[in-house]
Amino acid sequence: MGRFYVTTPIYYVNDVPHLGTAYTTIVADALRRFHQLIGDETFLLTGTDEHGLKIERAAQAQGLAPKAFTDEISARFRDAWPKLEVTADRFIRTTDADHEAFVQDLWKKIEARGDLYEGDYEGWYCVGCESLKTEKELEQPGNICPLHKAPVERVKEKSYFFRLEKWQEPLLDFYARHPDFIQPETRRNEVLSFVKSGLKDLSVSRTTFTWGIPVPGNEKHVMYVWFDALSNYRSALGAEHARFWSPNAKVVHLVGKDILRFHAVFWPAFLLSAGYREDEIPDVVYAHGFLTVDGQKMSKALRNAVDPLKLAAELGPDVLRYHLLRAVAFGQDGDFDHAALLERYNADLGKNLGNLLSRVLGLCAKMSHGKHPDDDPATDVELDAELGKEIASCLHNARKYWLEIQPHLALEQTFKLASAANAYVDHAAPWTEARKLNTKRVEKILSRLLRVLEATSVMIWPAMPQKSDEMRAQLGLSPVRPSVGADVWPAELPPIRAGLALAQATPLFPTYDADKQKELLDRLAPKPAIEAKDAKDARDAKAQKTAKTEETADGATTIAYEDFAKVDLRVGLVKTCEKVPKKDKLLRLTVDLGEPSPRTIVAGLALSFSPEQLVGKRVIVVANLAPREFGSADFGEGGKSKKEKLVSQGMLLASGPSEDLRLATIDGECAPGARLK
Ligand code: MSP
Repeated sequence: MGRFYVTTPIYYVNDVPHLGTAYTTIVADALRRFHQLIGDETFLLTGTDEHGLKIERAAQAQGLAPKAFTDEISARFRDAWPKLEVTADRFIRTTDADHEAFVQDLWKKIEARGDLYEGDYEGWYCVGCESLKTEKELEQPGNICPLHKAPVERVKEKSYFFRLEKWQEPLLDFYARHPDFIQPETRRNEVLSFVKSGLKDLSVSRTTFTWGIPVPGNEKHVMYVWFDALSNYRSALGAEHARFWSPNAKVVHLVGKDILRFHAVFWPAFLLSAGYREDEIPDVVYAHGFLTVDGQKMSKALRNAVDPLKLAAELGPDVLRYHLLRAVAFGQDGDFDHAALLERYNADLGKNLGNLLSRVLGLCAKMSHGKHPDDDPATDVELDAELGKEIASCLHNARKYWLEIQPHLALEQTFKLASAANAYVDHAAPWTEARKLNTKRVEKILSRLLRVLEATSVMIWPAMPQKSDEMRAQLGLSPVRPSVGADVWPAELPPIRAGLALAQATPLFPTYDADKQKELLDRLAPKPAIEAKDAKDARDAKAQKTAKTEETADGATTIAYEDFAKVDLRVGLVKTCEKVPKKDKLLRLTVDLGEPSPRTIVAGLALSFSPEQLVGKRVIVVANLAPREFGSADFGEGGKSKKEKLVSQGMLLASGPSEDLRLATIDGECAPGARLK
């Protein structure tokens, strides 16, 4: 018996559960179920990541206090997972009191080791990543975060620093001694070269907002959200740490490739610094790839359109689980294709496994009085021996792949066994043997097949627990309910259960005909993604036509509400304003949008306003416009002048000709950053 502790990332509560987060959570649950089957004691952890600037702002945007906001969204995650047949041993929230106490204690341990010091931080911060960025990491022009495709913010504040640089060599030694720590191999190589290229001390506290865990002894600082978040893996265990954070437990963190670095570099460094021994560092950080949907990147709009809970409610959670586990090679990017899901459903589940079950039960009803017949292994023929070999190999390989965290391959082996059994029915032809009155042969064939089905019902349990139960009920078997210490993964065919009464066959996976498939696609898949090119062209042509007929009085075309909703309009407060040398029309402003540092905005206002007229004014800013470059200009005086790029991180709204512009503004003392709706 071993111990297996598997974690998902804790999810930010600025979003609701989507297919990406459902994916990791389902993989974690399937792995844990496999480990239960082999008799391991297991612990599955998931939860929500609730502190930090991103969440503080998301709460503000909804007009809620951060805790009220996080309570609401966290509950959506907690309620979602059981609907996907995921059972967690703990659902942690980083606002839980025991977690906060643990993190403060961890901080103190690291501080006592001399690995924290106070300093000033100045640099770029991506709120989307909740991470500082080096200039090298940003896309130009406009200092854009390559992951979030949005401008980063300039941060300048007092901060505690963690001596990450000091841990560079110990980390490299650790990776060398634990080659399985970072998986898959390609990701391991990326991390290794990142660490070898030199680690810099890490800013681990913030002073410009308050939504975080206070730094012990200096409450002006809140801890960096990743310091807080990573600690959840250890804090969540509480007293269970003795069993699950010990050398004889296997600890596996499943993460997306975008957050590998935090887990593979910062997390072990924090633990080593806090005095954890090397054998108390997690065993595996496995980075999986990103999912696209019907070939498209999962933008926020698309993510919301593909709701895993809706899919699970419509198709059954097991069907969604199976498709996600089988269709995506774990560790690589993958596509969630609705049409492929339905095809796979029909082929693997309906025509292969489902058909095998109904076929065999139907034959048993006719040929063995609906009972499991007897079988004398001494009378096996070559065909039986071949099936025997296939069974042994599929059982062995599937087990190996589950252990190697390759669910797609484990399931491939599982369905290979079902195909082999279907082929065996065809070749063994029990109906012909029955006509020849070869009763013993008929019984052997049916018994063999029932035992393959029983083995398969165990093999599918990690992926499809409900369907496994249903299948077993038809086979006259009780549901798989693993217990610690009992390895029930079959090494060979289960025993002959002569005389066991079988139930009537009911289709486990009724196949979808073309009409039903179309109906499901229309209902479940986001429209543009499932349209064939012809249909899309026709739609585009129609849209153009409609747009023309929907011109408003002054000739402008209408747009859909969703298009308008994409524009992020905010109240800005002008902090500074100056003329741009040699550019008659341009002013360069810094505008407070409620973010840690003001944005630079370049606007063609100079013919209508002097800089002094604008400072202190409230303006309306298009805040999510891609940054725009206006060339460069020499700022400063004479010999001290400096060439600077003119990049505008937003646009002001105004009306009128250049020399008589009127600025759009807002009544009263509206807070900078307030959204217009
Ligand atoms: N809160 C941090 C994790 C802290 S763990 C100590 C976080 N949260 S997240 O909600 O933004 O993302 C959670 C996970 O979802 C990440 O592993 C990320 O890779 C994953 N995914 C987000 N979009 C995804 C896809 N399109 N496809 C697959 N997974 C993706 O990061």
